[in-house]
Amino acid sequence: MRLSWGASLALAASASAKSLTDVCTVSNVRSALPSNGTLLGIDMIPSAVTAAAVYNASAGMGSTETYTYCNVTVTYEHTGKGDSVVIKYAFPQPSDFKKRFYVAGGGGFSLSSDATGGLEYGAVGGATSAGYDAFDNSYDDVVLYGNGTINWDATYMFSYQALGEMTKIGKVLTRGFYGMSSSAKVYTYYEGCSDGGREGMSQVQRYGDEYDGAITGAPAFRFAQQQVHHVFPATVEQTMDYYPPPCELAKIVNATIAACDPLDGRTDGVISRTDLCKLHFNLTSIIGEKYHCDAETSTSLGFGFSKRAAGSSTSYQPAQNGRVTAKGVKVAQAIYDGLHNSKGERAYLSWQIGSELSDGDTQWNNDTSKWELQIPSTGGEYVTKFVQLLDLDNLSDLNDVTYDTLVDWMTTGMVRYMDSLQTTLPDLTTFQSSGGKLLHYHGESDPSIPAPSSVHYWQSVRAIMYPHLSSEQSLKKLAEWYQFYLIPGAAHCGTNSLQPGPYPEDNMQTMIDWVENGVQPSRLNATVSSGDYEGETQMLCQWPTRPLWKSNSTFDCVNDKASIDSWTYDFPAFKVPVY
Ligand SMILES: *[C@@H]1O[C@H](CO)[C@@H](O)[C@H](O)[C@H]1NC(C)=O
Ligand SMILES: *[C@@H]1O[C@H](CO)[C@@H](O)[C@H](O)[C@H]1NC(C)=O
Ligand SMILES: *[C@@H]1O[C@H](CO)[C@@H](O)[C@H](O)[C@H]1NC(C)=O
Ligand SMILES: *[C@@H]1O[C@H](CO)[C@@H](O)[C@H](O)[C@H]1NC(C)=O
Ligand SMILES: *[C@@H]1O[C@H](CO)[C@@H](O)[C@H](O)[C@H]1NC(C)=O
Ligand SMILES: *[C@@H]1O[C@H](CO)[C@@H](O)[C@H](O)[C@H]1NC(C)=O
Ligand SMILES: *[C@@H]1O[C@H](CO)[C@@H](O)[C@H](O)[C@H]1NC(C)=O
Ligand SMILES: *[C@@H]1O[C@H](CO)[C@@H](O)[C@H](O)[C@H]1NC(C)=O
Ligand SMILES: *[C@@H]1O[C@H](CO)[C@@H](O)[C@H](O)[C@H]1NC(C)=O
Ligand SMILES: *[C@@H]1O[C@H](CO)[C@@H](O)[C@H](O)[C@H]1NC(C)=O
Repeated sequence: MRLSWGASLALAASASAKSLTDVCTVSNVRSALPSNGTLLGIDMIPSAVTAAAVYNASAGMGSTETYTYCNVTVTYEHTGKGDSVVIKYAFPQPSDFKKRFYVAGGGGFSLSSDATGGLEYGAVGGATSAGYDAFDNSYDDVVLYGNGTINWDATYMFSYQALGEMTKIGKVLTRGFYGMSSSAKVYTYYEGCSDGGREGMSQVQRYGDEYDGAITGAPAFRFAQQQVHHVFPATVEQTMDYYPPPCELAKIVNATIAACDPLDGRTDGVISRTDLCKLHFNLTSIIGEKYHCDAETSTSLGFGFSKRAAGSSTSYQPAQNGRVTAKGVKVAQAIYDGLHNSKGERAYLSWQIGSELSDGDTQWNNDTSKWELQIPSTGGEYVTKFVQLLDLDNLSDLNDVTYDTLVDWMTTGMVRYMDSLQTTLPDLTTFQSSGGKLLHYHGESDPSIPAPSSVHYWQSVRAIMYPHLSSEQSLKKLAEWYQFYLIPGAAHCGTNSLQPGPYPEDNMQTMIDWVENGVQPSRLNATVSSGDYEGETQMLCQWPTRPLWKSNSTFDCVNDKASIDSWTYDFPAFKVPVY
């Protein structure tokens, strides 16, 4: 009797369960569109909807799984504007759908163009053209209409608006598509690194009540300072009139890693405590050490900052043999110290000691047989296009450029794009009060976006949101919804070929447990993928605690005031607060 009751229930459930072919139709999508007026400023164009099932396709980067989903495109315009924004969405087949929506971040000057990243989590995902054909254009290619004229529409869309609108529309569509009630919960996640990290912070800052969980790695926020900082090493070299052979800088980095690795209590090739290195190691001890690098011809794609091939170049380096010079160490020390103006006031933070100094790489001139200035186009292009407003891909030289010039460029960029690209609003009350959870991480030896950049934002949020709580109380309160982790040895959004350290691989699982099951993490699961400790799991320390190895297999998470202080910065070179 009981059995047949259960069996008939199952029958009823399967009868009402819809198949992909039931839901993956233009008419189902059209009927799920938010009607004009419900999302203020957004007018959907029903006639432009497409929907088609995709079977057994591989989806997501590096994934070997295959997925069956509904490939949907929708188009909208901003009310009264006459523009056109196309969004592609990937809806899992109904049996795979887990009431989730997932937004993936892009990188460099690109938003993600792949809508399928959420399928492995049973989530609907999206990707947007952002109104400037972002599937084919990188934002830096369209930021200027011509010399002197900024494309503000593209700027705001890239900065935060396109993803926010994609999420708002996507959640309404998701409910309608699967026949959920209009108030049903759709768990909404964000995940991205680098500019994808900045994009995630933009969502948390601007659309806080739309997201339940955001995972942001090495965010490229404080955009003006961050981009101009890429030109800082070249400016140091020009100011000191010493252009170190790249091998000399590489040796300084290697020797620093060797010297500072043991300071954290374990000799494993990883500086797990760059703060101890900063406090206790003097780079001058490297002077005189021998270096050697073989000749090489390399084709570099730069930082992949632009989708265009223009960034790639072939360069030749002769064999390099020598000893580390006092001048080379002085350059490295100045780079790690960070930018100060001519009054000695600090303007910005820098990469942690032991990070690669790739932005300081010089280039070989075959005609003069000398190492010469090289300006990374990451920073050079920012200055030409975003500060000088000239449609040029790189600075041609640094003639007359001083540290004060860099500060001026940062100031211009910060003021001009304060409410768009800068992305440092520190008041996350909307996100916090609607239950959002933020997991923020940064490779401690990131050579592109300095790890202290993330620490500084975390400190800003804590100070702005909990001005009246004791240190202990604000720490506890913040950890309930915003946690930050440094990844020992890690580079920019990935592992580091110079330091075989841990890297977190299952952040989404951690976030889903936090959001959907209320499991607040206290450590972050990471795995070592190379070196003597390959395969080791390290449960990383939550900032501001720091790891200290007790033996070759266990470490404590310690509170160390001198260390924390070494990560704490003021920027008196700017008159306005820099969050
Ligand atoms: C919503 O507005 C757009 C733009 O004006 C229009 O093309 C579309 O037909 C409208 N949608 C409906 C359902 O009326
Ligand atoms: C997709 O894969 C499943 C399982 O391997 C198979 O049964 C099905 O026929 C495939 N569908 C299509 C359209 O290829
Ligand atoms: C999804 O649909 C769009 C619009 O029809 C099409 O351009 C695109 O190729 C489709 N994608 C896949 C993976 O089928
Ligand atoms: C630095 O160390 C890496 C291995 O970790 C090695 O490949 C490279 O050649 C070294 N560079 C120098 C200049 O010693
Ligand atoms: C490193 O040592 C040199 C030479 O002994 C000294 O001049 C310098 O001040 C030291 N630097 C730091 C950061 O302690
Ligand atoms: C630079 O000079 C070296 C040796 O003289 C030669 O082998 C190499 O091809 C030259 N490279 C370029 C790019 O001219
Ligand atoms: C501009 O950037 C490109 C790519 O990074 C680089 O190869 C080139 O040398 C740079 N120009 C200057 C003047 O440094
Ligand atoms: C924009 O300005 C740059 C620098 O002055 C110049 O080289 C370039 O020709 C200008 N572009 C146009 C289209 O005028
Ligand atoms: C840590 O992450 C790995 C995947 O990288 C996973 O296999 C493992 O179960 C996770 N461990 C914990 C304790 O969450
Ligand atoms: C820890 O590892 C280091 C380096 O591999 C080794 O020299 C040392 O003996 C180990 N210590 C213990 C207690 O096993």
